[in-house]
Amino acid sequence: MENNLIYPRHVAIIMDGNGRWAQKRLLPRKAGHAVGAETFRSTADYLNKNTGVEYLTVYAFSTENWSRPRDEVDEIMRLLRKYMDEACSSLLEKNVRLHFLGDLTIFPEDIRSEMDRLHALSEKTTGLHVNVAVNYGSRDEIVHAVRALAASGADMEHVTEEDITAHLYTAGQPDPDLIIRTGAEKRLSNFLLWQGSYAELYFTDVLWPDFSAKEIEAAMTWFRGRKRRFGNV
Ligand code: FPP
Repeated sequence: MENNLIYPRHVAIIMDGNGRWAQKRLLPRKAGHAVGAETFRSTADYLNKNTGVEYLTVYAFSTENWSRPRDEVDEIMRLLRKYMDEACSSLLEKNVRLHFLGDLTIFPEDIRSEMDRLHALSEKTTGLHVNVAVNYGSRDEIVHAVRALAASGADMEHVTEEDITAHLYTAGQPDPDLIIRTGAEKRLSNFLLWQGSYAELYFTDVLWPDFSAKEIEAAMTWFRGRKRRFGNV
């Protein structure tokens, strides 16, 4: 990265519109997820190589997505496995760091140990942190954090914001500065509600599979025009 532009330190993305992208082309919805998985990969590569962004968090699968048709859920899981397989070799080469956020206990042992292995491999890399949120829900995460705090013997009557922050899946990471949602809807859908308290929210009609470098740059330019006040005047 060889420019002096200001970049958000942490960008989070709700990758919406895969199903509609496919339906517009008379393809099954899962075809949209396959192209969406490629868009995720190219977005991470672009941010890593060409920008000063340090953290990328993507919403790949929510705690609510399990209620989708079985073949669609299977396809997203297949793409996740495929991505994890390929990530092993490309991680070190591309120098990115990979983390998985969410209640991972629901996944079979092979997926979980692969997630752990990729996370461990990421100790050796120094580039963009990529958080993939799977079986993630923000309210579920906060409940999980509070239970973990109670189990640790914390004095619950005097729990602080910092205590809760330190027990979220994103513990140790900066809050997102910019949350992008593609696919025309304007809502957060249970994504990073605690961490995104002061994030700038960028909504675009572009469907996720069509999200390109040009769209990333448009979001960055918009972000630079925001005046961040964090509750001050
Ligand atoms: C939202 O589009 C997208 C999802 C629920 C899944 C996102 C998954 C991927 C991009 C692929 C797997 C990810 C990785 C990291 C390998 P939608 O289906 O809700 O679209 P719609 O609103 O048009 O129906």
